[in-house]
Amino acid sequence: MTIRTCIFDAYGTLFDVTAAARQAAAEPEFARIRDSWGTLAQNWRLKQLQYTWLRAVAGAHADFWQVTQDGLDWALEAASLDGDAALRQRLLDLYWQLAAYPEVPAMLRALKDAGYQTGILSNGSPEMLQGAVDSAGLQALLDDVLSVESVGIFKPAAAVYDLVCTRFGGPRSEVLFVSSNGWDAGCAAGYGFATVWVNRAGEPVDRLPWRPDHQLSDLTSIPQIAASA
Ligand code: LAC
Repeated sequence: MTIRTCIFDAYGTLFDVTAAARQAAAEPEFARIRDSWGTLAQNWRLKQLQYTWLRAVAGAHADFWQVTQDGLDWALEAASLDGDAALRQRLLDLYWQLAAYPEVPAMLRALKDAGYQTGILSNGSPEMLQGAVDSAGLQALLDDVLSVESVGIFKPAAAVYDLVCTRFGGPRSEVLFVSSNGWDAGCAAGYGFATVWVNRAGEPVDRLPWRPDHQLSDLTSIPQIAASA
């Protein structure tokens, strides 16, 4: 199989979604979450994702910015911090400038130098994704940034994965899809992409009908996987 296109999930894959809570916790003004930021970040992410799936199944789409705020509000209340408007605003501001994982720029550069098409396919709204790509300085290393907003439903709906074939061409087997979300990598494998699950935390594989083709602990060797897939 020849890979021609490498597509990346955004949040958790290229961009560290725990960075917002970690950074706020390091600021003197928000020392009150110094010990609890990890649970806050975990609950925020979990609820954000649950709300995407529930909205997709219920046919009640709202964009990822709304879902991100709803997930944060749940996590803040669970931590008895729901009246903390300054903390809420700081966490939301930081979400627009999440750090990319350190290996990301060199990895994307190696893919471009080797002639691959590169892109993002994300639940994120176009504005959120633009903010993250710009603040990480990745614009020149990506051929396109595809958002679910153009189909109005979240992953793992097939209509979302279809965006890649429409923009970059098929067949599906010539696309290497990379995600840190086990469910996203599994469902993209079911769709027919070659897939990599970036399993930084060493989690068990999701029990879905499909398994990712490859499992990595970070993104460093994506160019080698693309060349040998
Ligand atoms: C995304 C979420 C799923 O970027 O991480 O699509």
